[in-house]
Amino acid sequence: MGRPPIVSTLSLVALLVYSTVTAWATPPWEAANPIKPLPKPPLGIYSKLEDLPTPPTPERVRLGRWLFFDTRLSGDNTISCATCHQPEHGFSELTPHSTGIRGQQGARKAPGFVNLAWTIFPNFFWDGRAASLEEQALGPIANPIEMGSTHEAMVKTCEMKGYRPYFKEAFGSEEVTKERVAHAIADYERTRMSGNSPVDKWQVGKDEQAVPPEVKQGWELFFGKAECNQCHLGENFTDSRFHNLGVGWDAQKKEFKDVGRYAISKKDEDRGAFKTPGLREVAKHPPYMHDGSIATLEAVVEHYNKGGNANPHLSTRIRKLDLGKAEVQALVKFMEALSGEGYADTAPTAFPE
Ligand code: HEC
Ligand code: HEC
Repeated sequence: MGRPPIVSTLSLVALLVYSTVTAWATPPWEAANPIKPLPKPPLGIYSKLEDLPTPPTPERVRLGRWLFFDTRLSGDNTISCATCHQPEHGFSELTPHSTGIRGQQGARKAPGFVNLAWTIFPNFFWDGRAASLEEQALGPIANPIEMGSTHEAMVKTCEMKGYRPYFKEAFGSEEVTKERVAHAIADYERTRMSGNSPVDKWQVGKDEQAVPPEVKQGWELFFGKAECNQCHLGENFTDSRFHNLGVGWDAQKKEFKDVGRYAISKKDEDRGAFKTPGLREVAKHPPYMHDGSIATLEAVVEHYNKGGNANPHLSTRIRKLDLGKAEVQALVKFMEALSGEGYADTAPTAFPE
């Protein structure tokens, strides 16, 4: 309005020049995965990333996010961590077993993970064989039936594919090592938090309208009559310990298809014991248990209701519960109300070249 046309033409030219320069300066993969401040914990999560002994840094998280979603880290460029750990399913998947490279089937279900930065005991995997997220992250890359690569090949891939500047940004030098890859991926995982669920809004936010009466009844049962909190406790609803519920017990052969914790501890009482999974986002990833053998949350509660599967090593904490139909439903509704937010992500649209 009344402005001389020359000024707007000039500013248009300036804008064009500016956007060309910044487009040239920012490669598409950086635009697709910008450095972001560490996320704040959502309602219901009291732990802060900043308080960890070695807190993640925004630069390492950015690098780890690329690596987590980059299929070039696998033996045939088809599999990334996210193939089995899908963000929309609480970083788990909808199949009983994982399918890795060249369609190979594993024997266990990919567990979901959120809020993994703070575990009561550092036990990772269903049998607790990894003691840190760093140690854990290197396993699947070299596992012949998961990503089917080698750590040497993975390091070479990162060097060739333009990752060096981002290792410098994250670690101070361009050197690519398997330990650095693991550290970056683990830091990305640590930022995947889940909270602010209807249950958090009710319990922490004191909003009585946040959940229906059925969920409140489910809460009472979970912490009362059904005693689920003997093992599912704390802000992530797990004790990070191992228990035998009789899942995978073959009553004919009188043995476990998968011995679980026993393979690591060699203690007889650990036969058929598996790590208690956290329950946040649990409704997002049926089927359930280490072998994906229980189809629905309702069937899981019925498993507890009947006192598990009898076997010589059944946990002494598992007993018949005498829950009526409505009580089973209430527990299911309570677990469904543990779906919250804070972890959502999608694969970056571009990776370093
Ligand atoms: C082919 C599917 C597949 C791929 C690919 C895969 N995982 Fe897994 N992941 C699994 C399975 C199955 C388990 C459970 C294995 C076990 O307990 O023995 C698991 C376990 C885990 C756990 C343990 C969670 C817990 O609560 O103990 C984490 C963390 C994890 N994977 C991260 C990763 C990362 C990081 C990558 C990429 C480097 C990756 N996974 C690639 C299938 C996969
Ligand atoms: C003795 C400890 C213990 C008690 C008590 C217990 N759980 Fe569990 N829970 C576990 C373990 C261990 C697993 C995994 C077992 C396996 O895979 O073999 C599990 C698995 C689950 C799963 C499947 C999660 C997934 O990601 O696959 C759900 C859901 C669940 N429990 C809910 C409950 C409810 C509801 C109660 C109370 C009725 C309860 N649990 C009581 C230890 C326990």
